[in-house]
Amino acid sequence: MTRKEKYEQLIPQIAGLIKDETNLVGILANVSAALHEAFPERFFWVGFYLQENGKMLRLGPFQGSVACYTIPYGKGVCGKAWEEGRTLIVPNVETFPGHIACSSRSRSEIVIPMYDSQRHFRGVLDIDSTRFDDFSTEDKDGLEHIIQLLMAQIEDLL
Ligand code: SME
Repeated sequence: MTRKEKYEQLIPQIAGLIKDETNLVGILANVSAALHEAFPERFFWVGFYLQENGKMLRLGPFQGSVACYTIPYGKGVCGKAWEEGRTLIVPNVETFPGHIACSSRSRSEIVIPMYDSQRHFRGVLDIDSTRFDDFSTEDKDGLEHIIQLLMAQIEDLL
């Protein structure tokens, strides 16, 4: 199965998983688990950082090894995706200036910023792979679609 096909299968599954649910932590935990299970050989860390005070990202639900609790605006890949307001794909984390290393196993990373319907920034989805150059535009498109679905369900809960 291609990556694109995998996302085509995953998107309705995630839509079903979060439909009518109002438990924010549960939804974020289940979405990170569903993504982790969909690509177990690639996604070794999948999780959320949520925006606080307009200055900081705070660790939310995730799957994977222990991670840092806070990331300031503009710092690391997550803070940079917030600052630049776009999805960032980092093919080699060792060459990304200011990368925050939570695990030495991380080789490449994708960070998708999350916006509510008022276009206010609310947090990020962060995914790490143990392989170099492991994220493509298919991942970007699939994950941005998932984040759109997710935000429509959780924006009133944030
Ligand atoms: N690498 C991230 C920090 C979070 S961990 O990967 C879980 C960054 O540079 O923002």
